[in-house]
Amino acid sequence: MAEFNGVSSKMAALQAPLTIGDIRLDNRVFLAPMSGVTDAPFRRLAWRFGAGLVVSEMVASEALVTGNAEMELKALSAGLPLHVVQIAGREAHWMALAARMAADNGADLIDINMGCPARRVTTGYSGSALMRDLDNAVSLIEAVVGAVGVSVSLKMRLGWDDTSINAPELARRAEDAGIVMVTVHGRTRCQFYKGKADWRAVRAVREATSLPLVVNGDIADEASALEAMRLSGADAVMIGRASYGAPWLAGEIAGNEALGDLAGTILAHYEDMLSHYGVAAGLRQARKHLGWYLDSHACATPAALKREMMTATEPAIVFDAIATVFNSPEPLRRAA
Ligand SMILES: Cc1cc2nc3c(=O)[nH]c(=O)nc-3n(C[C@H](O)[C@H](O)[C@H](O)COP(=O)(O)O)c2cc1C
Repeated sequence: MAEFNGVSSKMAALQAPLTIGDIRLDNRVFLAPMSGVTDAPFRRLAWRFGAGLVVSEMVASEALVTGNAEMELKALSAGLPLHVVQIAGREAHWMALAARMAADNGADLIDINMGCPARRVTTGYSGSALMRDLDNAVSLIEAVVGAVGVSVSLKMRLGWDDTSINAPELARRAEDAGIVMVTVHGRTRCQFYKGKADWRAVRAVREATSLPLVVNGDIADEASALEAMRLSGADAVMIGRASYGAPWLAGEIAGNEALGDLAGTILAHYEDMLSHYGVAAGLRQARKHLGWYLDSHACATPAALKREMMTATEPAIVFDAIATVFNSPEPLRRAA
């Protein structure tokens, strides 16, 4: 493999800057939007560790515009240099209003969700259901692009099912409508998360458009990132579930400094969640992250201590447990 200043040309493919619309990204390894996971505290950590792009959780457009507090919190800036808000919906009217609201509140990029497979979303004809009617999908894109002065990107799946792979056509029409970047999860809606993401199938999108293209699905490390880019011809990768318990992963794959202080990072994440949501809600929201950290980095922790961490209603108990569990895994392993 060719080397330049100690960096292989393959690695350089992940580390090279990428321009989308009027935005220059430092590298090509992005954190995927994940509802209930990639809230502001998670994105702040991912960004600190060097993710090239982080995106808000999906924000339901009508709910945002009509003052739903949960959606307002999701759409709020995480205080990062780049603020990306993902919106979902099925009506051009609400999507345009939500996009404008997000842009007025500082969003630098609006991402449109046409990939969510969840029944509660698709039965409302939002998310990936929009891929069943491309004329409607495109009118929605046009409405959003026309409503804001900032760049707009699009995230989608390969199509609704195996018999309707229309991501290439949607990407081409989205480019005509003014979209600046397309992300494709290499599964159909009907696959949900089953099987394996088909990175090769994303190549048809590469051939249909000259837009910056991001490949997504089952990417978990440098090797899979490079392979997904090679097979799809994409310019960048987006990492979702592999980041559970590892908000630093995208940055690490992009070649940034590896995680040093595990306990300190988890403590900082926990504290940030408490201040973001308030103590009571923060305690609850943080539990899934604690569970992932335990599973990934301290799976031998005694069950009683795990239970104490996961059920504590007093932050001080969790702080102490984090320090114990993630600082001194050896004795804990022996005790298990
Ligand atoms: C818990 C969860 C929540 C998700 N929420 C969103 C979302 O809000 N918006 C979106 O575009 N995709 C969402 N996705 C899809 C991911 O962004 C990504 O496309 C998918 O997980 C495949 O990537 P992965 O294999 O790296 O996880 C979600 C996925 C999961 C697992």
